[in-house]
Amino acid sequence: MCGIVGYIGHREAYPIVIKGLKRLEYRGYDSAGVMLYDGSDLKVSKTKGKVSDLEERSTKEISTSGTIGMGHTRWATHGVPNDVNSHPHLSNSGNLAIIHNGIIENYEPLKKELINRGYTFKSDTDTEVLVNLIEDVQKKDGLKLGKAVQVALNQVVGAYAICVFDKNKPDEIVVARLGSPLAIGVGENEFFIASDASPFIEYTSNAIYLEDEEMAIVRLHKPLKIRKIKDDSLVDPYVQELQMNLEQIEKGGYDHFMLKEIYEQPNVIKDTYRGRLHSTTGIIQMAGVEDNLEKFLNADRILIIACGTSWHAGLVAEYIIEEFARIPVEVEYASEFRYRNPIITPKDVVIAISQSGETADTLAAIKLAKEKGAFVFGVCNVVGSSISRETNGGAYTHAGPEIGVASTKAFTTQITVLTMMALRLAKAKGTLSNSDYFRYLQELELIPEKVLEALNTNDISKEIAAIYKDASNCLYLGRGYNFPVALEGALKLKEISYIHAEGYPAAEMKHGPIALIDEKMPVVVIAPKQGHYDKVVSNIQEIKSRSGKIIAIVTKGDVQVKELADHVIEIPETSDALSPLITTIPLQLLSYHIAVLRGCNVDQPRNLAKSVTVE
Ligand code: F6R
Repeated sequence: MCGIVGYIGHREAYPIVIKGLKRLEYRGYDSAGVMLYDGSDLKVSKTKGKVSDLEERSTKEISTSGTIGMGHTRWATHGVPNDVNSHPHLSNSGNLAIIHNGIIENYEPLKKELINRGYTFKSDTDTEVLVNLIEDVQKKDGLKLGKAVQVALNQVVGAYAICVFDKNKPDEIVVARLGSPLAIGVGENEFFIASDASPFIEYTSNAIYLEDEEMAIVRLHKPLKIRKIKDDSLVDPYVQELQMNLEQIEKGGYDHFMLKEIYEQPNVIKDTYRGRLHSTTGIIQMAGVEDNLEKFLNADRILIIACGTSWHAGLVAEYIIEEFARIPVEVEYASEFRYRNPIITPKDVVIAISQSGETADTLAAIKLAKEKGAFVFGVCNVVGSSISRETNGGAYTHAGPEIGVASTKAFTTQITVLTMMALRLAKAKGTLSNSDYFRYLQELELIPEKVLEALNTNDISKEIAAIYKDASNCLYLGRGYNFPVALEGALKLKEISYIHAEGYPAAEMKHGPIALIDEKMPVVVIAPKQGHYDKVVSNIQEIKSRSGKIIAIVTKGDVQVKELADHVIEIPETSDALSPLITTIPLQLLSYHIAVLRGCNVDQPRNLAKSVTVE
């Protein structure tokens, strides 16, 4: 995820671009850059860091005058976050400038071809390949900018929202979209371009949202023409009147970042396996795993260290790695591990899981494991974060920036990465049959669709939330793969609604917690058809006979639990091992709605911070 902003008109572009980038910083803040054109010169300033760093640098580095401008705030995907990899990128001639949000998946062969044709590259980015491809097409075929962009885009595979400017055609910016958002604000002889409408809300309330596979030449003194990239056919521009206020727009129309992030899960899970999982050939391609495969295969055991929600993802991984790859796994709280003089040997592989990549306890535990000679592998979301740098190898989740303090999409994307790792190891060790291996690959590919379906439980979750919003306690029960989901469900509820909640393995209830059950105690039971269904049904009966209120998460079409439970939330079926990716969705929604109904600050719960950089 990145944020892009462009302006062409009669005002000074710089303040519009900088302010716009600040509003888009939720989309990524690894680096930022700006390009300005003042009628003769094309000026670029860019830097690692936030938009405020760019502001400081650019005002010293370049003259900020000019009525055409483009800016970018980056969430690094290809290439570490540094000055050189920051956008805008220029073509080899220096005439073309581009900003890009997305990923060009086939950039490597394109880059090789361009290198063969004499092009050179300064950065590690896929975007610099695209701008030179456009330049190459322009030169080879003698095409104008718009046409050259179109021809080039027809050669790329991936996702993009781009703005391209040509110094030799300074009255226009060419924009295009596939998979990443792009809005055009239409003013009085001026245009604004941005990832969402927040950068231009105070200038115009007329916006055109490009659809996938559409492009436009945004030209001064000319009506906007939108074309299909594939076949060049014209599309009637649909100008929408913006109804939203600024705050809502930054949240993409959702009331809270948490809700937006819950709803992003189908896409970010797909982003996380895209380009890595190839279900037809049976290949799982994760460079970090491939480079260190022998270490994993020769490990005596795998130790997983993490905190909070990431620790819960680690527990799910324990079940998956042991079942698929038959490697012993232990999961530890990083904060305990670092202080308890653990036995670690060079034959251990340690997996550190962290969304932020900055959690102090996890970082300290990694250092300790490295000192004792273990190989440490990171599963992080934030590119270039301390943990991703401190580990010996790693794999990123592609969840994009998670702003809501309660972790949601980070959890499901962590499980996605760890599942792919377990499958890769299983393949190398031959611990899964060929048919099971392919079945899991195919099922994993179906997860985004099923998460989308699970999001349809929003209304029923809201209704149930209204009934239990005033509860003082809540129990969450699950077995097997869904025991960690019970823990995660309880954590979500307590951290944002301040209701005391506990997660337990369902069978542990009779060893103590059952004493808590009475008619005031809501008990959320995760009871999908796959897994230990019959055992969980017995646990539900035990709760029922003590008058507990049962909210059951069941597979669509379930009959047995429906008869026993006070409320059921139906989710689509998947295999036991992949079920946490689905069962967790209604639990996130339930906590969210309870917290909202209790008037809590969902995105910034009391006493919490997104990145826990202190012990
Ligand atoms: C819960 C939550 C925290 C984090 C924990 C670890 O919703 O967000 O429990 O999971 O602080 O953070 P990371 O994953 O950044 O290391």
